[in-house]
Amino acid sequence: MKIVLIAGARPNFMKIAPIIRAINKHNAQLKQKSKRIEPFLIHTGQHYDYEMSQIFFEELKLPQPDIHLGIGSGTHAEQTGKTIIEVEKVLLQEKPDLVIVVGDVNATLAGALAAVKLHIPVAHVEAGLRSFDRRMPEEINRLLTDAISDYLFTPSPDGNDNLKNEGIPEGKIFLVGDVMVDSLLHNQDKAAQRRIVSQLGLKKGKYSLLTLHRPDNVDEKENLTKITLALKEISQRIPVIFPCHPRTRKSINQFGLSDFFKVIEGDNPHNLNNNAVHLVNPRGYLDFMQLMMNSKFTMTDSGGIQEETTVLDIPCLTLRDTTERPITITEGTNVLVGNDTHKIVTEAIKILDGKWKKGTRPHLWDGKAAERIIEILSK
Ligand code: UD1
Repeated sequence: MKIVLIAGARPNFMKIAPIIRAINKHNAQLKQKSKRIEPFLIHTGQHYDYEMSQIFFEELKLPQPDIHLGIGSGTHAEQTGKTIIEVEKVLLQEKPDLVIVVGDVNATLAGALAAVKLHIPVAHVEAGLRSFDRRMPEEINRLLTDAISDYLFTPSPDGNDNLKNEGIPEGKIFLVGDVMVDSLLHNQDKAAQRRIVSQLGLKKGKYSLLTLHRPDNVDEKENLTKITLALKEISQRIPVIFPCHPRTRKSINQFGLSDFFKVIEGDNPHNLNNNAVHLVNPRGYLDFMQLMMNSKFTMTDSGGIQEETTVLDIPCLTLRDTTERPITITEGTNVLVGNDTHKIVTEAIKILDGKWKKGTRPHLWDGKAAERIIEILSK
């Protein structure tokens, strides 16, 4: 059985890694050669900077892609369109039995579309998540990918409910847990051994970690300004460390907001244990995890970080009005604060004052989701 796996952007890599590990484990335990799974990894090249892509391959011990399509940046139509064209060529040549796509980025939808039109079955890992906000490009990618996939692997029961409500036959839906948590648990010890917290002069539980890159938050001056004002206030109580996405870095400069941030260039040790919002380069997987594990709380508009903080039991303020991961609110440590300056500050103060809920880890977020997926696919 030949399986093509498609990855393109930063949040794909930690979802693909446990699937490839599970394939290797499956092959190693096989008695019959005919049941062997042959993986073929396509990197679409949606993300291309070293710290957005290659560092994840190194740290997650991912094999180098069998092919790199070099798609790069562009409008949604350019990026998605070019990816469909290039993935189709590879699929025609490789003739796989199945294509696996993960998450909700443009590479996910493009890969699924290219495959389904060639009548190649598609498995979507992280299916069924819905923010019910169609202004988010990811929501469109989720809806469309799920509509054309043959196997829908969901991380939590809300995913099953959403898919059933959209009329997807139950036989296609499999609740398997969260592959992102597989990566987190697999790499937690390694992350704990990193030195980034001490290198930056930080102390456990004495700083806040921030990520920000959603177009709604960073592409409009008014919204980014509202968030920036909240950050300035919070940083008077606790240092804020901000590994900054390239999209956001551009907006900060363009909107004249750089004075609110202390820009730290390079990777040399610094003493960031002071009251400012410290803007640093995007970090690799392990350094970022160490920063998250040791933070007092994390502020983010990412999807995956809402899950990771729930597993690590770190308070999370999500700078969005909606989430496609409601279980991180009902069972985890997450609270939605949007981009409202007052609300962000108020909730941050609650955490600083020790008034925060204790989370529990959702069912099947146990590090074995990818193994369940491969077991189902190899039947
Ligand atoms: C994409 C995903 C988003 C995911 C995010 C994680 C879609 C629709 N969005 O958003 O779901 O949460 O990745 O990072 O697929 N850039 C660089 N270097 C890079 C990559 C991007 O400088 O390696 C800059 C470019 O200016 C580019 C911009 O970032 O135009 C946006 O990149 P893009 O991949 O279009 O979207 P993200 O905002 O990264």
